[in-house]
Amino acid sequence: MLIALLPGDGIGPEVIAEARRVLTAVCGNKISFEEAPVGGAGYKAAGHPLPQETLDLAKRARAVLFGAVGDPACDGLERRLRPEQAILGLRKELGLWANLRPATMFPELADASTLRPEVAKGIDLVIVRELTGDVYFGTPRGRRTTETGRREGFDTMRYDEDEVRRIAITGFEMAKRRRKRLCSVDKANVLETSQLWRDVVIEVSADYPDVQLEHMYVDNAAMQLVRAPAHFDVIITGNLFGDILSDQASMCVGSIGLLPSASLRDWRGALGLYEPIHGSAPDIAGQGKANPLGTILSGAMMLRHSLDLDDEAAKIEAAVAKALASGARTADLGGTTSTRDMGEAVLAAL
Ligand code: NAD
Ligand code: IPM
Ligand code: MN
Repeated sequence: MLIALLPGDGIGPEVIAEARRVLTAVCGNKISFEEAPVGGAGYKAAGHPLPQETLDLAKRARAVLFGAVGDPACDGLERRLRPEQAILGLRKELGLWANLRPATMFPELADASTLRPEVAKGIDLVIVRELTGDVYFGTPRGRRTTETGRREGFDTMRYDEDEVRRIAITGFEMAKRRRKRLCSVDKANVLETSQLWRDVVIEVSADYPDVQLEHMYVDNAAMQLVRAPAHFDVIITGNLFGDILSDQASMCVGSIGLLPSASLRDWRGALGLYEPIHGSAPDIAGQGKANPLGTILSGAMMLRHSLDLDDEAAKIEAAVAKALASGARTADLGGTTSTRDMGEAVLAAL
C-alpha cells in the first residue's frame, strides 16, 4: 500500500523521518513510501506550493502522511503561492471535509499540562472540525480600496446545509461509539452561518436519540476547555473555530507536538490525509528539538482509518505511551530528549 510522504517545511521533515521509521518497523513490506515536496519546499522545487506531481502522487496513494508547511521566507509571496496553500489545496482537491483531532491525556504526562493535574485528568475528547468550507473558502474575499481611499479586506463566512449535515452525522456516529455526548460549537447568537449550523444539527439529532446533544457558543467553549476539559467527548464545529480550539485542546494534554489528525472524506475511512496539528515551527526548525509524537500518532491514525491495520495502529499507540512512561520528554514536554531519540524511544518500546 502506497503512502505519499509530504514532509514540507521547517520541522516537517524532522518529524516525518521519525514517523517513517516507526511505520516501517511496524508494517514492514505491507507499506511503501513515495516522497514529494510541498509548501515552501514545493515552491523552491517547482515554483508552486502544491506542484502538480505532488498532487498526482497524493491522488494515487492509499493515504497521505503530511508534515507541516510554512516558511517565513515565503510570507511576502502573493497568497496563491504561499506554503499554506499546499495544505488548503490538498484538503479541497481531495475533498477532505472531515478533520478528526483527538486530544487524550496520557497519564504519564500529568505534569506536562499547564492545567492542574486534577483538571487535566481524564481528558479524552475529539474535535471534529469541518475542513473545506467556512470563511476559509467562502467567496467573495479580497482586498480593495474604498471610494474614500481606505484599504479594506473582506472574507465570507458561509456554510450550506449539506456541509453541516455531513459533519453533524460524523459527530453523532462517533459519539455513538464513544461516551455518547456531542457538543456542537457555534456562534449562533451573532452569526447567520452559525444559526443554520445549529438548526441542521438539531434536525440530525432526531436520528440519534441515544446521543446527548448540547450546543455551546465558541467563546464559552474556549473557556470550558480550560475549566473542565474532561467534560467533553465529541465536539463538532466549523473550520475556523475548530482550528483555534484544537490548538488550545493540545495544550490541555501537554503540548501541541502531541496531537495527531485525520482528514477524511468519509469518516469510515478510504483515502485520507494524516498530519500533526502543529505547523512548521520555524523557531525550533533544524535543531532536533521538535516533538515527533503527533506525527507518529498521525501515522497510527492512518493505519487505522485508511489501511485497515488496526493491530499495527494499536501497537504504535502503546509504544508511544511506553516511551513516555520510560521518561522520554522532548523540550516542549519539559525534557531534553531530541527528535531522533524520541523516535528511538518509540522504536525501543515496540
Ligand atoms: P506552529 O504550530 O508552527 O508553532 C507554534 C509554537 O509551537 C512554536 O513555538 C513551536 O516551536 C511550537 N511547536 C509546534 N510544533 C511543535 C513540535 N512538534 N514540537 C515542539 N514544539 C512545537 O505555529 P506558528 O508558529 O503559528 O506557525 C508557523 C508556520 O506554520 C506558519 O507558516 C503557519 O502558517 C504554519 N502552519 C502550518 C500548519 C500545517 O502545515 N498544517 C499548521 C499550523 C501552522
Ligand atoms: C492547521 C493549520 C492550517 C489551518 C493552516 C496552515 C492553513 O493551522 O492545519 O491547523 O488553518 O487549517
Ligand atoms: Mn491550526
